[in-house]
Amino acid sequence: MILVTGGAGFIGGNFVLDWLKSPKNEGVVNVDKLTYAGNLATLESLRGDPRHIFIHGDIGDKELLARLLTEHQPRAIVNFAAESHVDRSIHGPAEFIQTNILGTFHLLECAREYWSGLDGLAKQVFRFHHISTDEVYGSLSSSDLAFTEKNAYEPNSPYSASKAASDHLVRAWFHTYGFPVVTTNCSNNYGPYHFPEKLIPLFILNALNGKPLPIYGDGQQIRDWLYVGDHCSAIREVLAKGKLGETYNVGGWNEKANLDVVKTICAILDELKPRSDGVSYISQITFVKDRPGHDRRYAIDASKLERELGWRPAETFDTGIRKTVQWYLDNPVWVDGVVSGSYRDWLQKQYQ
Ligand code: NAD
Ligand code: DAU
Repeated sequence: MILVTGGAGFIGGNFVLDWLKSPKNEGVVNVDKLTYAGNLATLESLRGDPRHIFIHGDIGDKELLARLLTEHQPRAIVNFAAESHVDRSIHGPAEFIQTNILGTFHLLECAREYWSGLDGLAKQVFRFHHISTDEVYGSLSSSDLAFTEKNAYEPNSPYSASKAASDHLVRAWFHTYGFPVVTTNCSNNYGPYHFPEKLIPLFILNALNGKPLPIYGDGQQIRDWLYVGDHCSAIREVLAKGKLGETYNVGGWNEKANLDVVKTICAILDELKPRSDGVSYISQITFVKDRPGHDRRYAIDASKLERELGWRPAETFDTGIRKTVQWYLDNPVWVDGVVSGSYRDWLQKQYQ
């Protein structure tokens, strides 16, 4: 088995679905707290599949984790579980400290105790893969080089600070205890099953529902976009061949200004599902107050992962974004399921 945390969320869910597509791969114990961002509908196609064991639980619950590790004897842990939305971290950072820092600490300690008790090959092959973000490196100016693994950590939001803290814990557990870890720092993901509080799914659904497309500030902030399936393939490579104690940047070489991303989404929707009045979805764009402390530019240099492990993304931004828009058009049942009361409350709070 492998044990995955946060596997009912966006990236964790895509990872579990991808992993279990291959009959060669082992089963998955999937521990998820099912916060507002966790959604069992994402895992619906695995219902009845004995290779997937879903456990509703918290990575901060030491007793539960110790029991699961003893019972299932996983050969690896992949830690996706986190509070992941920057805007929510600005409104309420406490949950981010709780899960991203303390939760990771408890998970590390339980995993270390389990690993210490393993013998021989089981101990040798075990690894703990921590999923992190490019946001830990802070913000770039337009002339700066893309982030490499050697950039200093300069997190600017409560979210990125909590992820940076968790990365430091993971690093220290390797250096102090010899605990076998690898960390990946990835850029912005997009694709199926993405909770519609983040830019791309929010804007696809707002466009279709005739709502405003609220661009923060001038819309010239730059993000480096990676299709979620490519992130999953990178994680599989690093889990299989990554060097212990190392960190690997993962990115798509797809730097885009937010306004350009939104215009691309509008153009695809104009083609696939034109508005009944014939007006372009671009007319729904509005500029709203900027996010406090908004990082201007992220860019990932993924050459270490490409050079050392031979990983390459399969999708370009053009192919990935088209697939993503089509997925949201084709999956209204999943969308209806996540657009609950608490989701509507969040939109009201964030966008008035
Ligand atoms: P998400 O918010 O969609 O999903 C997070 C999942 O973790 C949810 O299913 C939630 O229920 C679960 N969870 C939260 N707290 C938990 C806890 N205490 N115990 C167990 N489960 C808990 O997030 P995502 O976008 O899928 O991100 C997954 C990971 O990847 C995060 O660590 C995030 O920092 C990192 N990451 C995300 C992106 C991105 O663009 N989304 C990019 C780089 C890195
Ligand atoms: O870089 C990796 C990170 O990408 C991950 O670590 C985070 O978990 C993930 O949420 C994402 O963070 P961002 O803040 O970059 O993603 P978000 O989709 O929230 O915003 C993308 C950009 O779009 C950002 O510059 C803010 C802007 N934006 C976002 C929203 C929700 C808007 O202009 N309007 C909006 O309504």
